[in-house]
Amino acid sequence: MTIERLQAHWGFSRMPFGRDLAPSMLVATRSHSEAVARIHWLVGEGALGIVTGEVGAGKTVAARAATAALDHRHLVIYLGNPSVGVRGYYRHIIATLGGTPPYQTSSLIAAAVDRLQTERAERGRRVVVVCDESHRLDPHQLDELRFLTSDEMDSHSLFACLLVGQPMLRRRLKLGAYAALEQRVALRYQLEGMDAAETATYITQHLALAGRSDTIFSDDANSLIHQTSRGLPRAVNNLALQALIAAFADKKSVVDERSAAAAVTELAAD
Ligand SMILES: Nc1ncnc2c1ncn2[C@@H]1O[C@H](COP(=O)(O)OP(=O)(O)OP(=O)(O)O)[C@@H](O)[C@H]1O
Ligand SMILES: [Mg+2]
Repeated sequence: MTIERLQAHWGFSRMPFGRDLAPSMLVATRSHSEAVARIHWLVGEGALGIVTGEVGAGKTVAARAATAALDHRHLVIYLGNPSVGVRGYYRHIIATLGGTPPYQTSSLIAAAVDRLQTERAERGRRVVVVCDESHRLDPHQLDELRFLTSDEMDSHSLFACLLVGQPMLRRRLKLGAYAALEQRVALRYQLEGMDAAETATYITQHLALAGRSDTIFSDDANSLIHQTSRGLPRAVNNLALQALIAAFADKKSVVDERSAAAAVTELAAD
C-alpha cells in the first residue's frame, strides 16, 4: 500500500488526520475554543496560567492557535524543551529580546526582567512566554519559575506566562511546596476529550479538508473510534487513519464498524 494509492482510493486531495494544520483548518471543539479564549484573557491580563490535558488532548495546538492570533503588539516566546532547564529558559528569553545572557546564573533573572521591561517600555510589546511540556520540569525547576512571577513583576504585569503540560503539572503545583507559584496562577484550564458528537464532527471536518464532504465513516465506526480514543484528538487521528487503511485494504467505499474495529486491534498491538 502506498499513500498515493490510498489517497486515490478515497479521492483525497491531501491526507486527512495529519498534523500540519493551519490555524484556519482547526476544529473549534468546545475545549479548544474555550482554551483559546482563556489564553487570550490571560495575555490581556499579563498573568500566569496553566493549561493541562492528557497526552494528545490538543494543548500545543490550542496554545499555538491562541498565540498565532495575537497582533504585532505581542511577542511570543515559545519554550518547547524543558530539558534546557529554567535557566535555559531565561537565556532564551534574553537572547530572543536581543540581549546577551550573562555568564553568572545569579544575574540571569535580573537580566531577563530588564529585557522584558525594555520590550514593554520602549517597543510597547507585551511578551507572551509559553512553556510547553512543563510537567517535565522537576520540582527544583518549578521553584525557579517562581522568579518569573516575582512581586515586582506582578505590579508591572510585564508579560504573560503560560505553562502547558499533562495533568500531573496541575497536581504537582497544588502541593504546598509551590504555594508561591500556585497563588499567582490566574488561569487554570484543563482540556477534556471531545464528546461523541464532537468526535463525529471532528472526523467529518478532517475529511472535508481532504476533499471529501460526503459521508465516509458510518455512525458505528465513529462511535467505536470515539469510545476507544475517549475523544482525544491525536488518538482519533491515529484510529481514523488506520480505519481508512483497513477499509481500503478490503476495497470498501465506506469505513464501517469492522474497519474501525480492525484499526483498534491494529493500534492496540503497537
Ligand atoms: N482543534 C483541533 N483541530 C484539529 N486538529 C486538532 C485539534 N486539536 C488537536 N488536533 C490534532 O491532535 C493532535 C494532537 O494535538 P496536540 O499536539 O496539541 O496535543 P497535546 O495535548 O499537545 O499532546 P502532548 O501531550 O503529546 O504534547 C494534533 O497534531 C492535531 O492533529
Ligand atoms: Mg503538546
